[in-house]
Amino acid sequence: MDINKKAYTKETILKLNIFQDCFKEWFPVYLHSDYVNPLYIYDMFAGSGYDADGMPGSPIILLTEAKGDNNQYCQLIIDKKKRVYFGFNEKVLSKSNELKENVDKYLSECKETCKLNECCLHTQIGQYDFQEIIESENFINILNNSKYGKFILLDQYGFKQITNDVFLKLIHSPNTDFVFFIASSFINRFKELPAVTDYFEKNKLHFDATKPKQCHQTIADYYRSLIPNNLEYYIHSFTIQKGANYYGLIFGSGHTLGMEKFLRVCWKHDVFAGESNCNLENDFEPGTLFYGTAEKNKIQDVKDKIKSLIRERKITNNIDGLKYAIKSGCLPSVYISAIEDFKNKGIVRIIGEYNKAATNIHKIKRYEIELIQ
Ligand SMILES: C[S@@+](CC[C@H](N)C(=O)[O-])C[C@H]1O[C@@H](n2cnc3c(N)ncnc32)[C@H](O)[C@@H]1O
Repeated sequence: MDINKKAYTKETILKLNIFQDCFKEWFPVYLHSDYVNPLYIYDMFAGSGYDADGMPGSPIILLTEAKGDNNQYCQLIIDKKKRVYFGFNEKVLSKSNELKENVDKYLSECKETCKLNECCLHTQIGQYDFQEIIESENFINILNNSKYGKFILLDQYGFKQITNDVFLKLIHSPNTDFVFFIASSFINRFKELPAVTDYFEKNKLHFDATKPKQCHQTIADYYRSLIPNNLEYYIHSFTIQKGANYYGLIFGSGHTLGMEKFLRVCWKHDVFAGESNCNLENDFEPGTLFYGTAEKNKIQDVKDKIKSLIRERKITNNIDGLKYAIKSGCLPSVYISAIEDFKNKGIVRIIGEYNKAATNIHKIKRYEIELIQ
């Protein structure tokens, strides 16, 4: 099986669209930041660049997004003296060679119409086993450097590459956002066998046999369970159903803004719940009587939980409420709608200056919530 030898399936195209949108959100944030330089963009399982019909794969998509519309980012990269490095890795020699040809061709065609003297996108093609890279001193130094911005795409086949150790390395790396693909149904199916138990701790995998649709969320919970209690970290998952199987993406960011951006992408691709292509929360489908008339189940659920937590005094300020919303996979505005309800009903009083800000959580002014009823 070679994903680049056939036309991408519609599920693969969805995956690539999500990768693309994530990077589209990530890149300008880091480009405009005065605190990080250089930027490293890694595609660790890059493939050969295109599918059999010439549709761009992840490395070409990343390069295209980095140029921006009308190459607007290239000038900005020069003006801001940013260094932008792409590391494309592909273990299979023939594919890695093909990738190199494809990237060279893409960049030389780009140069034909470019007004800049020199290309500002630096690319390197590797032909390593990913496990070698993640262990290498050079890569670990880049990961650990908080002055460097890192975007890491891990489009593995199957499920064996993102081990506990790899995940822990990624979440402890400053200014590093990542997204990986994983074949969750297979972990569920073979959970008792060494093929799985060699990679995943069995006692931390809690599949519900009655809810196979949720197996990718179970995998996301597995990874969440590895995050140390003292580390503020955000994980979100997106389930991709293909026939009877469930695959999916897992996103990670140590920053609320990173997660806000991921979530916007996910809610664009799943207007019901921002988490799948298969209506995981059983909302009313388009064409049915109640479609669109009621609040979506996921939003309703998270809003109710926020209200309960305010009543239990576990959420006592807006920042915690906003962070709870994003940790639950909702946009931060869900918190605003919960607190507005409570304020209007006289259930809470605000201590400090009330605001309805719900984006850029790290910049929002904090107020306290006092329960009065
Ligand atoms: C799902 S495909 C990637 C597809 C690519 N993102 C695209 O858009 O076309 C996974 C790729 O990883 C490569 N691969 C498999 N094992 C690898 C490893 N241990 N290290 C690096 N690459 C590997 C495969 O040859 C394959 O091309």
